[in-house]
Amino acid sequence: MNKNIVILISGRGSNMLAIARNVQSGLLKDKCQIAAVFSNNPDAEGLAAARNLGIPTCCIPSAGVKKQVYNRLLLNWLQKTGPDLIVLAGYMKILSPEIVRAFPGRIINIHPADTALHQGLHGYEWAWHEKLPATRVTVHFVDEGLDTGKIIAQQEVDLTGASDLIEVEERGLRVEHQLYSRVIRDLLNRL
Ligand code: GAR
Repeated sequence: MNKNIVILISGRGSNMLAIARNVQSGLLKDKCQIAAVFSNNPDAEGLAAARNLGIPTCCIPSAGVKKQVYNRLLLNWLQKTGPDLIVLAGYMKILSPEIVRAFPGRIINIHPADTALHQGLHGYEWAWHEKLPATRVTVHFVDEGLDTGKIIAQQEVDLTGASDLIEVEERGLRVEHQLYSRVIRDLLNRL
């Protein structure tokens, strides 16, 4: 039977769209459906894009809501939706320990750098400013820390000759868009 995934986003949603394309006609076809795309940001570009594709969406705006209250609302929504896998794709908020504990081994995140070397925001800016010849996109389980969860997969992005930050990000996203769906497929096969 098809598994249910939910995708959490805060902005552009290019990883979410790559996953949606793979669910429709790529390596996730007949493996899962996107039960919903969730965002904390009502203006997230990715939310509108998901709606245009006919994917169910849910937005609980986080602005002005206390962290604890917000996470309780999100936990309720996740429990009601009952996903097999929770996929963070540019979701820029930290999940509470209660959420992490409610879905052990079922929450994953994609990060634009090696999480052992760089955590948090601005992974491509970091690689560009450090003049790295390569960076490593990482998919990891989400634990209670900031980008500290067990690494599931990494893929190198060659940055040699990149002329600006835009090109660094383009090269990185090309890798992210392929790697994430492959990891999701492999995890779903094991669930
Ligand atoms: C991606 O590059 C993702 O790796 C990064 O945010 C971007 C979201 O892009 N995530 C983090 O930095 C998490 N620490 P998208 O909205 O187009 O998928």
